[in-house]
Formats: sequence, structure tokens, C-alpha cells
Amino acid sequence: MDSTDISSDLTEILYTKDQIDARVREVAAQIDADYEGKNPLLVGVLNGAVMVVADLSRALKIHCEMDWMAVSSYGSGTQTSGVVRILKDLNTNLEGRHVIVVEDIIDTGLTLTYLMQNLASRDPASLKIMTMFRKPEAIQSPLEIAYVGYDLPNRFVVGYGLDYAGRYRNLTDVGILSPHIYA
Ligand code: PRP
Repeated sequence: MDSTDISSDLTEILYTKDQIDARVREVAAQIDADYEGKNPLLVGVLNGAVMVVADLSRALKIHCEMDWMAVSSYGSGTQTSGVVRILKDLNTNLEGRHVIVVEDIIDTGLTLTYLMQNLASRDPASLKIMTMFRKPEAIQSPLEIAYVGYDLPNRFVVGYGLDYAGRYRNLTDVGILSPHIYA
């Protein structure tokens, strides 16, 4: 699905599929250079990171492996509490591995703050973060982010893995959701 298929649902397109593709390739080239010979493990955080892990991994020229975690935030409504329950853990032992946690978005940063502490305790050789999107105005917990795709305004954004009520993840562009959809 692209933005022309649902044009009345969006007030603005922020990044097109082509812009996203181009940025993923740039980030992949950085990772190629940084991890040559290291066979990094990409840890995708379900569900939103599916698109970026699929595209980033295929844009890499080096070998990598992939694994997945599913987490759920304790807390009410849309507010992240920072306490995270692991719904699906990794199948891979992280000891001695070069790990890159891959996210679709870092919003408050609370989910990843918890997750990074948890993963660091498993003795990886290195542990870094790649996120396709970041909302600088929403951050509550400062995180060291090694690789960022694009910054987003603190608005309701959908597409490329970002959902509203489970929908719009398969939108190839990224845009601001029209208030008439959620009002
Ligand atoms: C999103 C995103 C991150 C988290 C970021 O996941 O994928 O995991 O929120 O928010 P934070 O920085 O405020 O903690 P969500 O819980 O919406 O689940 P999803 O990936 O299934 O959409």
C-alpha cells in the first residue's frame, strides 16, 4: 500500500518509499564498514521492526544473523511505562556476539532503555542500536543510538512498520495520520 491508496487518511507525507530505501542503504553501508568480519546479530523488536530488519539485512553486503524479541509495556493506554514484559525471548545466546538492536521507532526511549539493560546482562561482545525513526521531542530516557534513519515530529505517524490500531504498517511511505481516523 502506498500513500495514494489511502490519501484521505494522511494529512502529510513525511518520507516516501524512495527516501526510506535510500536512507536504509546509507545506514547499511555504515554497518558494513563498522562490522566487517563480525557477523552481527540483528535483534528485531516485534512487530514494528519487521520492515526495517527485512530491508536493512538485505541491503547489507556483510553476513549477519537475525533474531526477534516481542515485548509488552506495562502501563495504561498509549503511555509507555518503562517496565517491559518479555513475551518472546531470543533463541540465540548473546555471549560474545556483536548485537545490533533494530527498532522501527524510538519514542520516549523507555522500552529500549529496559531492553538494553536486559541484553547487556547477557555478555554480548558489543551492543548497539539502530532505529529507522526517532522522535527527539518525545525522548524521556536518553539512549546512545548508533544508527538513525530519520527524525520525526512528535505527531501521530504511520507507515513502514508504524501502526495505528494494528493497521498502516504495510504503508510503504510514512505520513501523519489524519485526526478524523482516530478522533
Ligand atoms: C513501539 C516501537 C518501540 C516502542 C518505542 O512498539 O516499536 O518498541 O514502541 O516506544 P518508546 O520509545 O516510547 O518506549 P509498540 O509498543 O507500539 O509495538 P509494535 O512494535 O508492535 O507496534
